[in-house]
Amino acid sequence: MSNIVLISGSPSLFSRSNQILSYLGAKLKEEEQFSVSHILVNEIPLEDLFYGKYDSETIKKIAKQIQEAKGVIIASPVYKASYPGVLKALLDILPQDIFKSKPVFPIMTGGSPNHLLAIEYTLKPLISILKGHSLQGVYILDSQINTEYKNPIIDDDIKRRIELQIGYFIEAIREGKISIPQ
Ligand SMILES: Cc1cc2nc3c(=O)[nH]c(=O)nc-3n(C[C@H](O)[C@H](O)[C@H](O)COP(=O)(O)O)c2cc1C
Repeated sequence: MSNIVLISGSPSLFSRSNQILSYLGAKLKEEEQFSVSHILVNEIPLEDLFYGKYDSETIKKIAKQIQEAKGVIIASPVYKASYPGVLKALLDILPQDIFKSKPVFPIMTGGSPNHLLAIEYTLKPLISILKGHSLQGVYILDSQINTEYKNPIIDDDIKRRIELQIGYFIEAIREGKISIPQ
């Protein structure tokens, strides 16, 4: 059974982006029989992140989980036109090629359409620096999300784009494809 790791980059306890991530993780588990593990930055000990403790037990366990995964989905809010510092604090202390040869599906949620390119200019370059093979990714506005629903995405176009990319993601994992359609 191939393992997928979900990384939630939101510091918020009631996170929209994490709710989308959880929904996708549950779907991949139930419908595609993947095993799924979920890393939340807001559950990592503060000291590990603040002091950059790359050799702490928690950080070593996270690194191993990602290294053993066949694919990664990262969901993050936009903070000041970029990803939150706490997500960068985690990625900074993981090995430099942590996403090597893995498909990585980036998702960003934001309050404003003005920052929809944040995914292109901030999250995708970071995935690439860490040697991941990024999918096109999806930027979702808060107005396209309703956290009261099981599937929190209420916009049909966004739903379709996510489905298409999840399809590419699964194909990349199952067929070991490195070139992913953008
Ligand atoms: C500190 C902070 C900074 C934010 N900065 C932006 C921003 O620059 N652009 C934007 O579109 N939304 C911004 N937002 C809104 C969030 O990106 C948006 O509500 C997102 O869906 C929150 O995701 P979460 O619930 O997973 O944390 C900001 C929110 C916070 C709390």
